[in-house]
Amino acid sequence: MTDNTKKIENNSKLLAWIDERFPYSETMKEHITEYYASKNFNVWYVFGVLAMVVLVIQLLTGIFLTMNYKPSSEEAFSSVEYIMRDVEWGWLIRYMHSTGASFFFIVVYLHMFRAMLYGSYKKPRELIWIIGMLIFLVLMAEAFAGYLLPWGQMSYWGAQVIISIFGAIPFFGEALVEIIRGDYSISDITLNRFFALHVIVLPLALIALIFVHIVALHEVGSNNPDGIEIKDYKNDQGIPIDGVAFHPYHTSKDLVAIIAFLMVFSLVVFFAPDMGGYFLEYANFEKANPSATPEHIAPVWYFTPYYAILRAVPDKLGGAIAMGLSVLLPLFLPWLDRSKVKSIRYRGWIYKFALTTFVISFISLGVLGVLPADGIYVSMARFFSILYFAFFLLMPYFSMIDKTKPVPDRVT
Ligand code: HEM
Repeated sequence: MTDNTKKIENNSKLLAWIDERFPYSETMKEHITEYYASKNFNVWYVFGVLAMVVLVIQLLTGIFLTMNYKPSSEEAFSSVEYIMRDVEWGWLIRYMHSTGASFFFIVVYLHMFRAMLYGSYKKPRELIWIIGMLIFLVLMAEAFAGYLLPWGQMSYWGAQVIISIFGAIPFFGEALVEIIRGDYSISDITLNRFFALHVIVLPLALIALIFVHIVALHEVGSNNPDGIEIKDYKNDQGIPIDGVAFHPYHTSKDLVAIIAFLMVFSLVVFFAPDMGGYFLEYANFEKANPSATPEHIAPVWYFTPYYAILRAVPDKLGGAIAMGLSVLLPLFLPWLDRSKVKSIRYRGWIYKFALTTFVISFISLGVLGVLPADGIYVSMARFFSILYFAFFLLMPYFSMIDKTKPVPDRVT
């Protein structure tokens, strides 16, 4: 017997030993080597996997940051300085984590937009979408909690502005604000609880939700750019004719995307980690000072579309409601969209026009959220807020009257 055959025999013995005690081979088959996904996936289909890559980057760098970070209002800011200057490779770990936060949102926004292009939230994938929206809410909370930790000026004042929004809620608003802060103002106590949320509670919730997201996805199978159910056309062995095994066919494509992603990610980490003040705001290079408000308070770019909506409404409670609604409305897409077809490829001009308007308004709101809220900027924010809401609220109507094209039986 050659060395190689001996190795193979030992491996299969080990595998058999494991399989008798744990469904390893069965799980690998069902979810990887014999999970069939459409053969016509395009570039829009890589962002789910990329989101997982970013999650791993955040978890790993987060662990190493926690080893040197001090969650107290006295020491937090200087412990971050210490990480940047004295800890071996500390600057790299911190820049990877701060850049990772922005890339998480870039990737997740594109991932969500893909679902809007191809109607991936429509039956039978409503639950994948709802779980996705829960992931999105937890991700926002995770980023918000993390932003307080460096205890810079924008950490402090950004949190001050956002937490005070809850105070607009009638009857129990003020009590809620105190519960979130744990104090009468943002303090060491707030920092401590945000630390606990950021490093334990929310990451655990994220991981659990992503697991359920994938379980739900594998139950019904992936959609595709044609919006056709490939399970409807199977061969004699019960395999979808238009499907290919996830491994090795999709994994090899995903690997190319991961490498390209890591190249772009590295460019930012090494050459523009603050991204001109968009990924790391300049005011945050100064320690939090509760008695000096920065001249201009704006959250990080991924929150600015919602922040612009908040400021577009003159009334505090109205603004808070509008902002809450703008975050929650996408949750209802599976029921707002009445179109008979899933993919944009077979939809009429009305949906294409509406989706384009939505993208323009979302990006414009994002830009306006960074700018000061006065003069023409407020009027523009109002205009784009109306377009943003119109997209969701008019959808039951325009998606029904939009003329669709016939959908082919098989993927193109
Ligand atoms: C950390 C965040 C997330 C991770 C790691 C993640 C992961 C994934 C993966 C790996 C897939 C399969 C591959 C793909 O279709 O790209 C997927 C599919 C999907 N995800 Fe996510 N996801 C995340 C967030 C979200 C969010 C925020 C939403 C929407 C609100 C969402 C909605 C969907 C939908 C609808 C599908 C099915 C797409 C289709 O089959 O066409 N996901 N997700």
